[in-house]
Amino acid sequence: MSENERKTKTISADELDRQKQFSQKVSSVISARYDEKPKACVITYGCQQNLADSEKIKGMLDLMGYDFTDNRLEAKLIIFNTCAVREHAEDRVFGNVGSLKKYKRENPDVVIALCGCMMQQKHIADKIKQSYPFVDLVFGTHVVHCLPELLYRALTGRKRVFEIPDMDGAIAEGIPVKRDDDSKAWLPIMYGCNNFCTYCIVPYVRGRERSRSEEDILKEFKELVSQGYKEITLLGQNVNSYGKDLIPHVSFSQLLRDLNALDGDFRIRFMTSHPKDCTKELIETMASCDKVAQHLHLPFQSGSNRILKAINRHYTREQYLDLINYAKSLMGDELSITSDIIVGFPGETYEDFKQTLSLVEEVKATSLFTFIYSPRKGTPAAEMPDPIPAEEKSKWFKELTDLQEKISASQMALHKGRTYKCYVYGKGKLGDNYIAARNDGNLIIEFEGDESLIGTFQTIKVIEPLTFVMRGELVKEKQI
Ligand code: 5AD
Ligand code: SF4
Repeated sequence: MSENERKTKTISADELDRQKQFSQKVSSVISARYDEKPKACVITYGCQQNLADSEKIKGMLDLMGYDFTDNRLEAKLIIFNTCAVREHAEDRVFGNVGSLKKYKRENPDVVIALCGCMMQQKHIADKIKQSYPFVDLVFGTHVVHCLPELLYRALTGRKRVFEIPDMDGAIAEGIPVKRDDDSKAWLPIMYGCNNFCTYCIVPYVRGRERSRSEEDILKEFKELVSQGYKEITLLGQNVNSYGKDLIPHVSFSQLLRDLNALDGDFRIRFMTSHPKDCTKELIETMASCDKVAQHLHLPFQSGSNRILKAINRHYTREQYLDLINYAKSLMGDELSITSDIIVGFPGETYEDFKQTLSLVEEVKATSLFTFIYSPRKGTPAAEMPDPIPAEEKSKWFKELTDLQEKISASQMALHKGRTYKCYVYGKGKLGDNYIAARNDGNLIIEFEGDESLIGTFQTIKVIEPLTFVMRGELVKEKQI
């Protein structure tokens, strides 16, 4: 297959080489400066895309000669990879960075850096510049691949480094990745978002949608499989629009089929899907590809058509239900559905909210990610009148989570007697002889078995659903 042409810009090989040279320069600087190999602490907030970015940051730091620690007070380099999706996440970052002021004063050779979505917002970068003078380096989402150069400047220059170009972003291939897990891996297939849901900051801080070439994805995927990764999650803000910018066009369903056809024992997961671009073809592909997890994370955000319009989602609750019912008709009990919901969007009434509750009852999701609306500066929703008081929204929120708790419990009960293909990932907690496995829907099933099964897929029957895990038994050991 030839390299797909694309409208999207890629970072040139020359630029990546230049960064490698900076990487060697950082290596020399830190080995001269510190008595022992310095440790870096990378703290990640937010979504899987950020986790994937942090794994690249760690890959680059590894190459530069850093070791790693989870204890920020023994690190010579502390990097906060931040999230801007809700105010709460931002507040935590400010609190945690603020608490390092004394550590930095006592240890001036420590470098403190901030990156990620929060830093891509001008008002936040300005606040760091003015009120957090002990922060040495701030970089935006489009220049992660320049970390070697930026860190070199922060280590050797007199000035603090702020590098936050406002651009649509490009794709950097070949950045080293240091993965946190040895069986689960994140694999970004696209970056950015074009949807501009009216509450959401992501399109402003992550730029427009751009897809990696299918060739690059297949290459990385095959490497992961050969390294022994068993659960590979394809990432994008809206994976259903994967490939629209590639020439020739490759659809997400096609990509899934091509990955499914690769040799090896692995499970493909993906997130997030947007209902407006989720096609029946995708659902058919999920149902027919044996290595694709029958798990659909399909956020509906609200059950009220009026609110769906106000948040610019481009589907109705009826269209959403149509997709869910089609998926259930093809995948039956095997299918696990999860979703995101926002409570208290500006102008939402209790009547609208009741529509959300009724959709939750109809969908019967395995679990839900529920959020109270958080105004984001620069988004259209932040300018809309928002008359419902916070206490009222909290009451609605509680009503929603109580309802889902009941649904989750009754859904759990339905698993009794069912069998699932599960990945056995580690030791269990139900007893000494128990080992733990995950099914397609990420539900944990523990069973009595030999530790030699860890790292394999097995068929497991659910004996007893408990609150958070299920007790099961091995149906028949599969030889790997
Ligand atoms: N307020 C609350 N929740 C939000 N999300 C995105 N932006 C906001 C916001 N401003 C939620 C959506 C999205 C998930 C990742 O975060 O539900 O699907
Ligand atoms: Fe935000 Fe909507 Fe894009 Fe998701 S699809 S990242 S909610 S704008």
